[in-house]
Amino acid sequence: MPGVALVGTQWGDEGKGKVTDLLAEHTDVVVRYQGGNNAGHTIVVEGERYALHLVPTGILYPHCVPVIGPGVVVDPQVLIEELDALGERGVDTSKLLLSGNAHLIMPYHLELDRVTERRLGKNRLGTTKRGIGPAYADKATRVGLRVQDLLDPKIFSAKLEVALKEKNLILTRVYGRLPIPQKEIEEQYLAFAQRLAPHITDTDPVIQDALDAGKSVMFEGAQATLLDLDHGTYPFVTSSNPISGGACAGAGVGPRDITRIIGISKAYCTRVGSGPFPSEADPADAEILVEAGAEYGTTTGRKRRCGWFDAVAGRYAARLNTLTELVVTKLDVLSQFDPIKVCVAYEYEGERFEHFPPNQTIFNKCKPIYEELPGWSQDLSEARKPDELPAEARSYLDAIQGLVGAPVSWASVGPGRDEIVDMAGSGSL
Ligand code: GDP
Ligand code: IMO
Ligand code: MG
Repeated sequence: MPGVALVGTQWGDEGKGKVTDLLAEHTDVVVRYQGGNNAGHTIVVEGERYALHLVPTGILYPHCVPVIGPGVVVDPQVLIEELDALGERGVDTSKLLLSGNAHLIMPYHLELDRVTERRLGKNRLGTTKRGIGPAYADKATRVGLRVQDLLDPKIFSAKLEVALKEKNLILTRVYGRLPIPQKEIEEQYLAFAQRLAPHITDTDPVIQDALDAGKSVMFEGAQATLLDLDHGTYPFVTSSNPISGGACAGAGVGPRDITRIIGISKAYCTRVGSGPFPSEADPADAEILVEAGAEYGTTTGRKRRCGWFDAVAGRYAARLNTLTELVVTKLDVLSQFDPIKVCVAYEYEGERFEHFPPNQTIFNKCKPIYEELPGWSQDLSEARKPDELPAEARSYLDAIQGLVGAPVSWASVGPGRDEIVDMAGSGSL
């Protein structure tokens, strides 16, 4: 049975949590393949809110095996806290599998993320300060510590010594900070090791065997296409590959294992942190979107920047991820506007760009070209079938699918599990 990848098509927070949760209902294995606890995926079940950062959404279903794959960077303290919090709410977390090849986020990564942002001043990225960038940097320069190192105290200690020597020089000499004692980290991390040991395994064969046995496997993207390290709005990106192609490397499967690729998109657009955002709304409209959409970060609590649906970015995401379908979320939030703006192209020095511009100078300075579509100005939260949506809302979705070039299969009209419209009449996600 082929795998299903679920990816964000914008700058994150598209509602991936809600959609992965719905899909997990009939999925056997759910795999996180990149990122770390910079992610914040919200799920609302019967009025109860769960915010997951590192643990895959499948954890909420007893039939699902949640897997943290080798491409993820893991802060063990955060993982343990998240497992404890879920356990206290009655969720069975014993079946979580954690790849021994995943890299560890270390205390010096957190410190380096903070001091680097401070040094960058007005050029800062606005990271989540979770140590993501520094952890991936160490992975790439091959001085990272991996989850499996927790199981061998001698190796852990030897590798830590090599890494920490350099990190403490940077922290003390470049940033004037105090060095972090090796003993302190060792004690802390080896205690984490005891707790996490039952979950640590080689996850590649687990996923491959599940696919071979005809089971369903979902690859749960965190962050999103425009935050992709290679294809996003660099340098204002994260340090991993959230795009569907990233699922292969990050989970240990081949491209032929993934045949359904679902892009998640808000009916408008948001961004947290710095960087260009061509369709950013004026402050008055942005404030309406923030309030109606409760646009505050799940991880950092920061107010999200808000704007209009960007069809150029949508087209880019559709091609880059080879989307087979699009799920549009938060359509209900647009009930506040009539007409509704959609960015259909960019303009730069008199030239019209239908596709993503070839360089960042253009992207930084381009102006959005808007088309206005009629609003519906009514509550959508009760709609479950396409004909229960106002004609204007259906036309809006039609316009999006035409502009992006991928069919809209579902449209979400509220945060709850059941608040979703089956646009293609497929019965289940
Ligand atoms: P993720 O990072 O992509 O999983 O998205 P987040 O969970 O960070 O942010 C999405 C927010 O929108 C969460 O608070 C969800 O509960 C909420 N949400 C998801 N779908 C809808 C929807 O259709 N309508 C409304 N009003 N809220 C939604
Ligand atoms: P989910 O999975 C939105 C953004 C940060 C910052 C940039 C780099 O919930 O959609 P990092 O800490 O990754 O080095 O920060 O990426 N960012 C996100 N924005 N949603 C996310 O995750 C994000 N994860 C990182 O705000 O601009
Ligand atoms: Mg989020």
